[in-house]
Amino acid sequence: MLEATWNGKKVLVTGGAGFIGSTLVLRLAALGAQVTVADAMLPEYGGNLFNLESVRDRIRVQMADVRDEHIMALLAEGVDVVFHLAAQVSHVKSLSDPYPDIDINIKGTVALMEAVRKTAPGAVVVRSGTRGEYGASATLPVNEDAPTQPRGLYEISLLANEKIMLMYHASHKLKTVHLRITNTYGPRAQMRSSHYGVANWLVRLALDGTPITLMGDGLQKRDFLYVDDCVDALMRAAVTPAAWGEVINIGDDHPSSFRDLAQSIVRAVPGASIQYIDYTPERRALEPGDFYSDISKAGRILGWRPTVALQEGVQRTVDYYRAHRAQYW
Ligand SMILES: NC(=O)c1ccc[n+]([C@@H]2O[C@H](COP(=O)([O-])OP(=O)(O)OC[C@H]3O[C@@H](n4cnc5c(N)ncnc54)[C@H](O)[C@@H]3O)[C@@H](O)[C@H]2O)c1
Repeated sequence: MLEATWNGKKVLVTGGAGFIGSTLVLRLAALGAQVTVADAMLPEYGGNLFNLESVRDRIRVQMADVRDEHIMALLAEGVDVVFHLAAQVSHVKSLSDPYPDIDINIKGTVALMEAVRKTAPGAVVVRSGTRGEYGASATLPVNEDAPTQPRGLYEISLLANEKIMLMYHASHKLKTVHLRITNTYGPRAQMRSSHYGVANWLVRLALDGTPITLMGDGLQKRDFLYVDDCVDALMRAAVTPAAWGEVINIGDDHPSSFRDLAQSIVRAVPGASIQYIDYTPERRALEPGDFYSDISKAGRILGWRPTVALQEGVQRTVDYYRAHRAQYW
């Protein structure tokens, strides 16, 4: 039923050459949606045209920057759905240079929303926020009413995005949804730096034949989410009217420890090993403690919960990068 609704839908995906965006684009194209990708392909960011190679003849790919309202207006005109996934996504980078977070994530989101307001006021806009908007968690699992105490400009910028989405819904009557997404892993993420998704980085260490390094005892809990499950949540949010104007956690209420993750990687990469190291003072200061999401709201409103178990997701990730390593290393 959900699948059929996408056939012929006009969809704009910002950041569609990146990790989550391209996974979403592949799924939408398979279901017959008319997809336009807007991606600025900024150096060192996650955009990779190889991610889209298998559907290039069925989609439109536009080198476009979300900060340019004029271009975004041209691309958004008359679309049914906008998935806004473009962002500066590195927490670590935002600590030393916070300006891209303000410029791309905040100004860029306003530019996109102005474009949508003027050229596609009936469109649904789904924005990808982060569980980092919460910061450290006092009560687990963390639900949407928990206080937000973000620990970096990246997270602050996405919390601002959330307020922007809610404002455009309340004041301009746009159909917006903001998802607070947890640590996501899987194929198509860039693998060049440890400054991005930690689960994928540990996969890279194993595939490189170097020990998987865990800080402390590795027992810190996270709700690692496989990218296909994340994409499923994004798509459900777009077609569920009860979600519009809402902020919804997308994660897993059955957490795993970093040690569980590393052991799953070792099972998928025979010969890989785990090494425990002390926290650096900087990492200790940033470590938020255990985190996992209360996803009952996503279940109630979207009928969603994750379906891919950690070992299965890790195996698929390892298989993908073994096959396509040259495109990502
Ligand atoms: N990967 C995760 O674990 C995770 C977790 C929570 C939230 N998110 C959010 O999901 C979204 C997608 O993240 P991702 O992991 O796929 O990252 P990614 O870096 O792979 O993708 C982001 C894409 O945005 C593009 N982009 C950056 N600046 C742009 C601009 N000014 N104009 C147009 N395109 C631009 C990049 O080229 C890249 O293709 C982001 O909003 C991120 O904050 C990701």
